[in-house]
Amino acid sequence: MYTAVIFYFSGTGNTWWVADKIKRQLDAKNINASAVSIDTLTPKKADWWIKTADLVMLGWPVYGSDLPEPVKRFIDALPKSEKGKHVHVFCTQMGFSGDGAYVAHKRLKGKRLIIDTADHFIMPSNLSMSHGFFATPDEHKIKRIVGSAEKHVEQYVERLLSGRVRIKGRYSCILGILQRWPYRLYRKKARNLVGVDASRCTRCGLCAELCPMNNITIKDIPEFAGNCAQCLRCYSFCPTSAITYYGHVRDEKKHGKPYFVPDKHFTPSSLIK
Ligand SMILES: Cc1cc2nc3c(=O)[nH]c(=O)nc-3n(C[C@H](O)[C@H](O)[C@H](O)COP(=O)(O)O)c2cc1C
Ligand code: SF4
Ligand code: SF4
Repeated sequence: MYTAVIFYFSGTGNTWWVADKIKRQLDAKNINASAVSIDTLTPKKADWWIKTADLVMLGWPVYGSDLPEPVKRFIDALPKSEKGKHVHVFCTQMGFSGDGAYVAHKRLKGKRLIIDTADHFIMPSNLSMSHGFFATPDEHKIKRIVGSAEKHVEQYVERLLSGRVRIKGRYSCILGILQRWPYRLYRKKARNLVGVDASRCTRCGLCAELCPMNNITIKDIPEFAGNCAQCLRCYSFCPTSAITYYGHVRDEKKHGKPYFVPDKHFTPSSLIK
């Protein structure tokens, strides 16, 4: 039987959602597909999937037109593919990234993984710790964006199976660089932007369990190792909104709950299992 693996990294569920929808579409076409969070993989296990699956996909959320740190680490830890393999990459984004998926091509090529297709899925903004232009869209807008993404997934799977090549962003690297370089400078500072309001924290440990960078240790209260990748898991899923960003605690009366993908099958643990 034809098999497919969709590796994904996701902070607030959008990329999980796209990976899950691709899996369901492929299953409906009698392709045995698995969506696998990179949080659950050792390099050896990932290599096994790459060797055995007929179709290999990898998806992530765009951060400043760049790869999230956990995705960089995942690719860098892979052994070089013995025979080489063609792979399909995609990213999710709220608007624009230039070459947000194709940006991985050099890293992947170093592992003899050659990009066959690259695509960008527009999903709602998860930057819900920001306001104004970057604020989370309202419920109607979220519904509309997710509806369009659902159609995009259908077209994506059709294109994939028909063997049509589409490398979105291949010639937009200049536009990507214009976002990437300032973001990379900002990243250094951003490693320390999360914190905790001890008066709100119940020491439940969820933030530490979800963190893909092992940046959080629960001592008396959560302590941070200065290694944040800005995935927003701790901020978005803390049950008491105790995680601070830029030193500010979330004002839920004013800004509502933080964003995560609106899907009844989704729970924070979907990201790490
Ligand atoms: C730190 C950070 C940087 C981001 N940068 C971009 C960007 O450059 N372009 C864009 O369109 N969306 C950007 N976004 C929005 C996310 O890529 C988008 O909402 C994505 O679908 C989130 O996926 P996830 O829920 O799987 O984490 C950014 C989000 C974060 C947290
Ligand atoms: S998830 Fe929130 S309440 Fe739980 S330990 Fe972390 S900061 Fe505290
Ligand atoms: S500290 Fe929070 S935002 Fe930073 S990488 Fe860990 S879970 Fe993500």
